[in-house]
Amino acid sequence: MTARLLDGRALARAIENSLRDEAATFTGMFHRRPRLVVVLVGDLAASASYVKGKQQAAERVGVDSEVIRVAAAATTDSLVTLVRAIAAGSHGPADGILVQLPLPEHVDAVAVLDAVPPERDVDGFHPENAGLLSQGRPRFIPCTAAGVQRMLLDAGIETAGRHAVIVGRSDIVGKPLALLLAAKGRGGDATVTLCHSRSEDLADHCRRADILVAAVGRPRLVTADMVKPGAAVIDVGINRIDEAGGSRLVGDVDFDAVKEVAEWISPVPGGVGPLTVAMLLANTLLAAELRS
Ligand code: GUN
Repeated sequence: MTARLLDGRALARAIENSLRDEAATFTGMFHRRPRLVVVLVGDLAASASYVKGKQQAAERVGVDSEVIRVAAAATTDSLVTLVRAIAAGSHGPADGILVQLPLPEHVDAVAVLDAVPPERDVDGFHPENAGLLSQGRPRFIPCTAAGVQRMLLDAGIETAGRHAVIVGRSDIVGKPLALLLAAKGRGGDATVTLCHSRSEDLADHCRRADILVAAVGRPRLVTADMVKPGAAVIDVGINRIDEAGGSRLVGDVDFDAVKEVAEWISPVPGGVGPLTVAMLLANTLLAAELRS
């Protein structure tokens, strides 16, 4: 069997098309475009490339964006001050404020993220937004988790009553996705197992999954023997590996082998990544609407 492909690129374009209409309606009503301000600290090539992708998508949809670049040597205090200044309007209207992660090791990332006002926290990382999500009344849902749920919904992959196994307990993906899939209602009602680096018998847990989500950042961690025949496998990993002749991106799933076992599989690149960006723009529009 060869699995059906979950094409995140095509779905992201379809979502962008409807967001473009929504952004135009906003602009018509309030005589300005929704606006996103991104703080990019240091010079990690991967972060710069993700931020560029976010800016390009914003442009396609009709959302203004500005990237504020800060040297890697910036202190926690200076970044907290910058985020507060952005919220106060120092860099123009800021409906959404995003601090690109990871931050340099010497920076207290929690302090910087907590400085983003919760009503502009388009990443959904602020404790107020995390709390609302955990109580089943989400405002800003972390973009990658929202993208995974959207991918399942779009493909008509049933979650209710089914067993979802998530590998990776990060605040950015694993934890919010566990809450989303376990929540009552459409795209939820799943039985969720959240695995992590201390889980015993990881392969056994994975083999019991109807929906298996890999979000750990370990190249090809999920192999074919860890997948139940007929499962949906969603790959959140983006890992750059060196190979003869150059480097390339691979996910956390051994795609070529797993596609012979699974019924659905998301590729890397072209899977969850583009949906993360589309969800960020959806959150930015929501922030603009909430503020106006
Ligand atoms: N770095 C990797 N993923 C993300 C994300 O979803 N948001 C931010 N701010 N940084 C990231």
